Amino acid sequence: MKIDPKKLIVAAAQSRKNAVAPYSKFQVGAALLTRTGDIIGGANVESASYGLTCCAERIALFKALTAGIRNFTAIAVVARIKGGPMPCGACRQLLAEYAPAAKVFVADSDDLDAISTFSVKKLLPSAFVGNFRT
Ligand code: THU
Repeated sequence: MKIDPKKLIVAAAQSRKNAVAPYSKFQVGAALLTRTGDIIGGANVESASYGLTCCAERIALFKALTAGIRNFTAIAVVARIKGGPMPCGACRQLLAEYAPAAKVFVADSDDLDAISTFSVKKLLPSAFVGNFRT
């Protein structure tokens, strides 16, 4: 199934509206695309105990995985930041494990047409993937 970066970015911008970010006020939306064209959205959720906060990318990934969804071909991430939000190290690790072939699209919510594209491998080279696989 063909990947439409703009469509996925728009889905991430839509998910961003449900961000729960009362502390940082930095609202982030993410949208995962599967091989069969399904889109799973997520947004960041913060806690009064700040360290419990979960990024939009991981929320989307955990939602999809726990719904039995796999085979991700792309993820889009949107926030109001110049050039778009780059996934944090923790999210890169999870993407390397569960969406290693995914393209990563990022965009500023004020300019959804300016999309930057990365591979998960580029974002996290030599990722740790455990010793349970051969
Ligand atoms: N955040 C994300 O959701 N994704 C990113 O790629 C970067 C950071 C969230 C976590 C926290 O709620 C807020 O942005 C500020 O760090």
